[in-house]
Amino acid sequence: MALKKITIAIDGHSSTGKSTMAKALARRIGYAYVDTGAMYRAVTLYALRNKLIKGETVDEKALKEHLKRGDIMITFRPTKEGKSVTVLNGKNVERYIRSMRVSNVVSIIAAIGFVRKAMVKQQQAMGKDKGVVMDGRDIGTVVFPDAEMKVFATASAEVRAQRRFDELRAKGDTTTTFEEVLENVTERDRIDSTRKESPLRQAEDAMVLDNSHMTIEEQNEWLYNLYLSRVRS
Ligand code: DC
Repeated sequence: MALKKITIAIDGHSSTGKSTMAKALARRIGYAYVDTGAMYRAVTLYALRNKLIKGETVDEKALKEHLKRGDIMITFRPTKEGKSVTVLNGKNVERYIRSMRVSNVVSIIAAIGFVRKAMVKQQQAMGKDKGVVMDGRDIGTVVFPDAEMKVFATASAEVRAQRRFDELRAKGDTTTTFEEVLENVTERDRIDSTRKESPLRQAEDAMVLDNSHMTIEEQNEWLYNLYLSRVRS
């Protein structure tokens, strides 16, 4: 008997490795993977490049116009290595959307109601046929409140900052300090959890995954077992 196709929502704090675990699970079970954080990052990159953000102030009127005109097209493209990259208006922007320049202001863009509305609409379209693993902040609460499997990932702020710091160093960033990264992680938690529009919160029916002291293998097994329990029930 073919296993039923479900929708998998993985939400949680930043730098908990949500995308790593979501990607691994999607590959293992043959589902599509959608990184919704990358979509907010791509809008942020677009806004920065078009000077629609100055300091912490966003020209919301202009941004709304650009979105409405269809000037901000975000898609995902598979690479030859079996990875997926974020594409903004036809160009691979994967590298740029992960920079500190984008990380520092993405929470401000992600807090804007009309930006969220536009992204949620696209995400719902991407997942309409199920068989998708989507990671973000509001997937189990807003985008797919009826998802059959919901996970809320978390870990201590220090563990998360260390992971992001190691990532930046591995990418050749030798200037950003651990303290700066920790501050960015803490500040993003605060903005994400206290914003008016779809604040980050755990859905009532989500399973909590605290991976502060878990290996990647342990967490992958945890997720896979949860998936099996959901498709067999
Ligand atoms: O997961 P990430 O760090 O790439 O997310 C980038 C930002 O986008 C982060 O500040 C939270 C926000 N975000 C959101 O508000 N809703 C989502 N579904 C995904 C990300």
